[in-house]
Amino acid sequence: MSQKTYVHGYSVRESERLSDQAQTLTGLLHDDTRYPAGSRVLEAGCGIGAQTVILAKNSPGSLITSVDISQESIRVAGERVRAEGITNVTFQTGDILNLMFEPESFDHIFVCFVLEHLAKPQRALEQLRPLLKKGGTITVIEGDHGSAFFHPGSADAQKAISCLVKLQQEMGGNALIGRQLFPLLTAAGFSDVHVSPRMVYVDASRPALVEGFTKLTFTAMVEGVGDAALRQGLISKEAWDQGIRDLYRTAEPDGVFCYTFFKATGYRDERMTGQKE
Ligand SMILES: C[S@@+](CC[C@H](N)C(=O)[O-])C[C@H]1O[C@@H](n2cnc3c(N)ncnc32)[C@H](O)[C@@H]1O
Repeated sequence: MSQKTYVHGYSVRESERLSDQAQTLTGLLHDDTRYPAGSRVLEAGCGIGAQTVILAKNSPGSLITSVDISQESIRVAGERVRAEGITNVTFQTGDILNLMFEPESFDHIFVCFVLEHLAKPQRALEQLRPLLKKGGTITVIEGDHGSAFFHPGSADAQKAISCLVKLQQEMGGNALIGRQLFPLLTAAGFSDVHVSPRMVYVDASRPALVEGFTKLTFTAMVEGVGDAALRQGLISKEAWDQGIRDLYRTAEPDGVFCYTFFKATGYRDERMTGQKE
């Protein structure tokens, strides 16, 4: 995937959004991911390091290699990790579809919010699998924008979300990929695949989520594609503006917002592929 085909882009606002997202969802998405001391971990598609710092802090004894196709993101991620005093992460620029590591270089692989941007997510998983030692694990976390529902309901808000889904699809991605993690990992040859849906439920009694998820993560993400959606004539200006207002409206004291992430784990298993070594 070229950098131009990344639907959210690499703006400062998008960097802030990824950080807000990671911090807000730390417990929900990361608490059950702890890698043993001495284990080698590949983080594929680390972006600006928003998840990297969480991974590294949760598994301080592991040796993490974080890669991304964007050189600039790698630079920012490196600064961020250094600023946090983290010393168990090294960074490399690289394309998941063509990584230069020796087979069986890693005990674990971690992929978060990356497959949704790839035209060939199964191929990416197939490329990653041989990099695992036998018995090694992969963890994949993805969202699914079809899982968003909210109160008050709004047809314009749903239309605005659909614009993001459409734009991502046009760029070769899939914003509805969360529901496909089980078949994707299984088809890519991983065994014992287990998918754990993680719902974010937000109402006024959870002010940190109202701010950190409904506004700064989800609505900011949809809002970020406004110019592209209007330029392509996917929606009228009136419907777009109303849709965004309605998404923010769900963050009012009587509003509710729900969204589900999908966290999948699987094991490298030679028997699944029929390969003989
Ligand atoms: C939504 S960001 C997620 C970043 C990080 N995992 C997080 O959750 O904050 C997706 C990242 O995938 C990277 N990416 C997309 N295609 C890639 C590829 N083929 N190889 C490596 N990185 C890729 C993008 O550059 C971007 O940084």
